[in-house]
Order: sequence, then C-alpha cells, then structure tokens
Amino acid sequence: MNITMIGTGYVGLVTGTCFSEFGHNVTCVDKIKEKIETLKKGEIPIYEPGLEQLVKKNISEGRLHFTTELSEAIPDAEAVFLAVGTPSSRRGDGYADLTYVYQAAREIAPYLNDYTVIVDKSTVPVGTARQVKRIIQEENPNADFDVASNPEFLREGAAINDFMRPDRVVIGVESERAEKVLREIYKPLYLIETPIVCTTIETAELSKYAANAFLAIKISFINEIANVCEAVGADVADIAKAIGMDGRIGSKFLHPGPGYGGSCFPKDTTALMRIVQEYGEHVRLVETAVEVNFAQKARMVKKIRDMLGGSEAGKTIAFLGLTFKPETDDMREAPSITIITSLMEKGARVKAHDPKGMDEAKKVLPEGVIYTRNAYEACEGADAVVLMTEWNQYRALDLKKIKNLLNEPIFIDLRNVYDPKNMKKLGFKYTGVGRK
Ligand code: UDX
Repeated sequence: MNITMIGTGYVGLVTGTCFSEFGHNVTCVDKIKEKIETLKKGEIPIYEPGLEQLVKKNISEGRLHFTTELSEAIPDAEAVFLAVGTPSSRRGDGYADLTYVYQAAREIAPYLNDYTVIVDKSTVPVGTARQVKRIIQEENPNADFDVASNPEFLREGAAINDFMRPDRVVIGVESERAEKVLREIYKPLYLIETPIVCTTIETAELSKYAANAFLAIKISFINEIANVCEAVGADVADIAKAIGMDGRIGSKFLHPGPGYGGSCFPKDTTALMRIVQEYGEHVRLVETAVEVNFAQKARMVKKIRDMLGGSEAGKTIAFLGLTFKPETDDMREAPSITIITSLMEKGARVKAHDPKGMDEAKKVLPEGVIYTRNAYEACEGADAVVLMTEWNQYRALDLKKIKNLLNEPIFIDLRNVYDPKNMKKLGFKYTGVGRK
C-alpha cells in the first residue's frame, strides 16, 4: 500500500520505517529541509536501538522515501498518518497544543485525490479527529476521505520491538471502508495473531490516555509503597514480586524509582486531567499519581541530602545516568533535571555521565555540571554516587574500584540495581528506594 507519514519525529519515523519494513511503500514528509536531507542519507536524528539499520535497509530496498513536498506525497497515498508533535500548550495549562495537527490537516487537504484515510497517530484529545475532518471538508469540499484514530503505544528504547510485536493495535474508525484500509496496513501483524481492537474514533482517542494514565498510576503506587517500606523496614522488591505474581496485578511497571519522566506520561496525564475537566468530570486517581510523582522527585533530593549527613552544600555528587530511562538520549521530563537542579541550588557540585544523553542533558541541566567520559571518572573524588538511570553498563560496575575512587563510599541506588546486603558487605553506605 502507499502510505504517507506527516512528521518525522520519534513516532512518525518509527511508524513510517516499520510500515516500510512490513512491505508498504512509505513516504515521510517533514517541513525541515535539513532533517529530510539527513534522513535521505539514512542518518537519523535520534537514538533508538535498531532504527538506523531499518531506515537504511528500507531506503536501499526502495520502500522508504523522504520529502518536504506534500504535492509528491499525498495524491497517491491510500492512507495519510498525522504524526506531528502535540506538546503541552505554551499557556502552561496542561492542554495538548493541537496547532501542528490542524495545520497539517489544512495543508494536506488540497492534494487529496482518490479515497484516502487520514489517520491520527499523534496523541490527541477526544474529538480531534472530528476537527480534522471538519478542516479538510472546509479546505477541499470534494475530497473523498475518512478520518481514523490509531494511537501508538511505543516505548522509547524498545520502539521497534513494540511496533513489530505489539500487545494489541487499536483502530478507531467510522466506516467499513476505513477499517478495511487500516486492517490491510496491519495485516503482517494479524498473521502473527496480534489482536486488533476496532472501535469508534472517540474510544480509540481516549484509550491512549487511559493506558498511559493507568501505567503512571501503577508507578506512583509502587513508589508510595516503597516509601512505606522505608518507614516499616520492608523490602519493596519482594513486595513487587509477591503482588506481581497475581495475574490480576501483573509484574510489569512495578519498579520503584525517582519518578516517571519522558515525553508521554507527564504530558498525557495532565492533558487527560484538562480534557475531563471540560466535561465537568474528574480523574482523581490520575491527579494524585501526578502529585505523587512530583513528591517522589523531592523525596529523592532529601534521600541524597540525608545520605550526605544533612547537607549537600560543598559536596561533589556523581550521577550515573541522566536520561529518563535507558536506551534513549531523551531528556524530556527526566527526574535527573529536577533532582540535580535542586541539589546544585543548595551548593552541590555535580559530575555526571550518561552513555547517550549527555548532548541533550547539556541543553537542560544547569551550567556547571561536569560531564565525564565514563562512570569511573564521574566517581573520582566525589562524596557520593547516585545511580539515576539503569543503563546496562551500570549494572556490573567494578564496585571495588568505585569505592576507592569515591571520597566517601556512599552509594545511592535510585533504581534498586544492586543488592543492599552485598553493597554493605563491600563497605558502602548504601540505600536504594524502598529497601535498605
Ligand atoms: C510510555 C509508554 O510505555 C508507551 O506505551 C507510550 O506510548 C509512551 O509512553 P516511554 O515514555 O518511552 O513509553 O517509557 P516507559 O518505559 O513507559 O517509561 C516511562 C517512565 O516510567 C520512565 O521514566 C521509567 O523510568 C518510569 N518507570 C517505568 C518506572 O519508574 N517504573 C516502572 O516500573 C516502569
């Protein structure tokens, strides 16, 4: 099939590339000329494991194309996916900013030729697809098209696998014709028996918010239980195991930590709160999960301060990992930003290492952070080390070496990577989250 992807950000690029890997003929469009030129050479602007190889392969096999011209990309497309950004609105009120979605709808409308399905891939509030429909009808009253919603559930760092082997695909449609096109696009997944949930457009739009809000609640829940564990002397890792074995609860997303970050959970939870307010409703559990997440970051600052004997002023702290999770260079809403900024405001010095995120980190962390070539260099002469993001290369550190490099053998493990008993045996003053 001929598919066009509008927007070559994270979602657009992964989705377009994976569709071409399915065997479809895909054209990705972006307004930024330099970005398109780079992509044409098979170079990608983000770090996502496996993506660059897949882009190169599908370009060379002639199924993946990049252009800035809608006139080239739209007329022959059987489906046009809108994968443009929906940042939090600049008004700071938590609403999703839909400017780019509506602008894209307006711009593609004149080029629509034969029957086309316009699919919202961006995470958008309920009702957006209907607005897109209205805009296209206004701009091109003769266009033969349907709108649809097809939310993405891709995790950064695991996006290719999530796309190729999803738990489910959700499609929201209002006609059999559109359903047929979308089922055809996802046919390769149907062959591996991926469930396809076909529903109304509004239900599909809300399902994305509901999924992310639930996961955010799950993380905030285990973070609160971790805090209770610290108070009563219990071990949260064992609790997560014990409750996770209950099939109704499930073991995933029960890892306590410094709070969730990233481009989705923080943005989508607040956007959902705003959407429901407009309907006079509330999502109190979501509101609380958001509050708990803020509190968790502040709690981590206090944890570090306490480990340093009550004050961070004048102390040097080594941070291992800066990105909001491993296997990405994304620093959006990373807990490291709040935690490092708070500590530096109170006079701490920070040395930091991250395998992929240091370039992005430099744009958002305070001036004065010292970036190092590896974990050991960060620990040299530091008064404590904080394991912030659980990159694989921090899972088997030479702990004896770390202990010798540190001024004080203080190890604050915000991802519970290491075994507390073993750390104490090695002579560290150690703390995790929800276990001692
Ligand atoms: C998320 C959703 O998982 C994905 O389906 C959605 O479409 C986009 O948002 P992503 O933001 O890439 O994906 O990362 P994810 O793996 O979900 O982690 C989000 C945050 O939660 C990270 O900061 C991570 O460290 C944190 N987290 C996750 C925990 O603290 N504990 C957990 O058990 C799981």
